Amino acid sequence: MPSETSSENRLWEFDADERGAWNRRYSEQENLSFEPDPFLLEAYEHFVAPLFPKAGAALDIAGGLGRHAIWLAELRWKVSVVDISEVAFEKAEKKAEQRGVNIDFLVRDLNSWSPDRKKYDLVLVFYYLQRDLFSALESALKPGGILIYKTYTGEQLQYETGPKNPAHLLRQNELLHAFPNLRTLYYRETIKDRAVAELVAMKAK
Ligand SMILES: C[S@@+](CC[C@H](N)C(=O)[O-])C[C@H]1O[C@@H](n2cnc3c(N)ncnc32)[C@H](O)[C@@H]1O
Repeated sequence: MPSETSSENRLWEFDADERGAWNRRYSEQENLSFEPDPFLLEAYEHFVAPLFPKAGAALDIAGGLGRHAIWLAELRWKVSVVDISEVAFEKAEKKAEQRGVNIDFLVRDLNSWSPDRKKYDLVLVFYYLQRDLFSALESALKPGGILIYKTYTGEQLQYETGPKNPAHLLRQNELLHAFPNLRTLYYRETIKDRAVAELVAMKAK
């Protein structure tokens, strides 16, 4: 129960006051990492760079501290990042300023906000699962646009950290079939250190 769990696990178990919970987590967190997830680097090198020799418009969903938004902005992408936590964005904005990049920070609750249609060449989702957003993510892509998605699968329950609520955990092959109108370029589920699914998918031109 809450008193016996780490603050991370408490957060994953209860959805009430989502914004407050994430704000607290970002306020309390001491070792903030702005390192991009290695999967973004791999997916970018293999799929995005060859298809987009010129940087375009990108959207990072639930982008937190902006680690991916900043990385893309440094490659001259025009980046918008959405998150419910204004505390995360205060820190992200400081880091973006230090790095000399401009990013459009949108404090929004994804339960009541969805992106404009056909606006983005690249959409990213890392460590966030909201199933009723899947079709809006597809629609947000321009023709030829790319979706990069990575988050936890149910096997993460065997580890101490990460979500405990099934609403935040992918089922086997779920991400593979979540975007039926996109062409899958890459898909993998792994359980080394953490249990995740990784997807790269493209909208038809
Ligand atoms: C595990 S973090 C992932 C952050 C980032 N994608 C990354 O990989 O560094 C999940 C993020 O989802 C955000 N979030 C949770 N619920 C949300 C909601 N309803 N609307 C928008 N963002 C939300 C949190 O504030 C948090 O930054």
